[in-house]
Amino acid sequence: MNQLEERLADLCSGGELIRMIFSGKRKKSVEYNKVSIRPVEISGQVLLQAEYTYDKKVTHENLSCREAAALALQLVTEDFKQVNAFTLSEDVQILASKPEKARITTKPATKGMPSLAHNKTRNYIIADGVPCDFLIRLGVMDQEGKVLQKHYSKFRQINRYLEIVEDVFPYLPGNRTLKIIDFGCGKAYLTFALYYYLKIVKNRDVKIIGLDLKKDVIRFCNKIASDLHYDGLEFLMGDIADYTSDHADMVVTLHACDTATDYALINAVSWNTKVILSVPCCQHELFSQIENDIHQPMLKYGILKDRLTEYLTDGLRGLKLEAAGYEVAMIEFTSLEHTARNIMIKAIKTGSSDNPRAIRAQDEYEALRDFYHVHPTIEKL
Ligand SMILES: C[S@@+](CC[C@H](N)C(=O)[O-])C[C@H]1O[C@@H](n2cnc3c(N)ncnc32)[C@H](O)[C@@H]1O
Repeated sequence: MNQLEERLADLCSGGELIRMIFSGKRKKSVEYNKVSIRPVEISGQVLLQAEYTYDKKVTHENLSCREAAALALQLVTEDFKQVNAFTLSEDVQILASKPEKARITTKPATKGMPSLAHNKTRNYIIADGVPCDFLIRLGVMDQEGKVLQKHYSKFRQINRYLEIVEDVFPYLPGNRTLKIIDFGCGKAYLTFALYYYLKIVKNRDVKIIGLDLKKDVIRFCNKIASDLHYDGLEFLMGDIADYTSDHADMVVTLHACDTATDYALINAVSWNTKVILSVPCCQHELFSQIENDIHQPMLKYGILKDRLTEYLTDGLRGLKLEAAGYEVAMIEFTSLEHTARNIMIKAIKTGSSDNPRAIRAQDEYEALRDFYHVHPTIEKL
């Protein structure tokens, strides 16, 4: 082991590392502009996380000490000429224009260890501080990539959404252009984020359609997609209930009002869509239909009836999706407009409507529907 290799292995395994930064590209063809390595705590285990900063994206990789040391050596011999490492006891600078004659200097430590939990919470898919074209264009970030304080909750929501997309990504077909429809896309922060994640971070060919009723919103979104050269992202004006297509690999419907969500789900199921992400809102349809003698004394309180309407509507939607062969989870999503209404229906097609689980879900659906004497739009499924 030579001196450079030994030093990098020490930095990665000594438990003192705060951050190691690689800079000064050896050649233009190196894809990333900067790489840094720092400790992070994930599920109670301390790992070293490599962060790769490209022109338009940042990606992360979690590594063991040994893997991090091997990566550090590769980075400094092949991609970068300089390393600055900050540890609890010293700052280390490695100048390696010629790796075999690397110059290593040290000086007293200038940095303290941030909490690892802090490192973890800030590990967003889109990072604050790295310019991201669509967020700059939508006014969430400034030109330097700094997220504007007033848009921080939007920024968090976008990252939370991308974490969910990351979870379902393995279920999407891997061998062809992905077709995705975002029903009720509105100003399309989340549609742009989806495109950015799949096309730019994951390097997949995509055809993403955002559909909305509002003409001005559609014009606004198409202009941005065209200015940013987001090929494969298109916005159309139309009503979800009338939209026709032959297939979609994923259907998204986030905060589309009342029964618009049902039509999105009905479309998705009819196309055999593999992944559905839906955050319902304004579930009013069943409010005037619910009738149940036992619950009546409670339902005279309007606010309780309102909440029950929401849960019943989404519960029935979930069961209908299960009955169509989907595995369904209800998860929390950060909603900006209706903070109490933050449930996402995550559905993945795993079977058919004639398997025992689906048949049971249909029976449960009917029992629940009849118990409250309701006739929801999702019945059309
Ligand atoms: C609250 S916004 C949500 C926008 C975006 N999905 C989000 O979560 O940030 C709801 C959008 O759904 C659209 N919408 C509601 N009903 C629709 C329908 N039947 N067909 C198409 N778009 C609809 C509205 O025009 C509005 O822009």
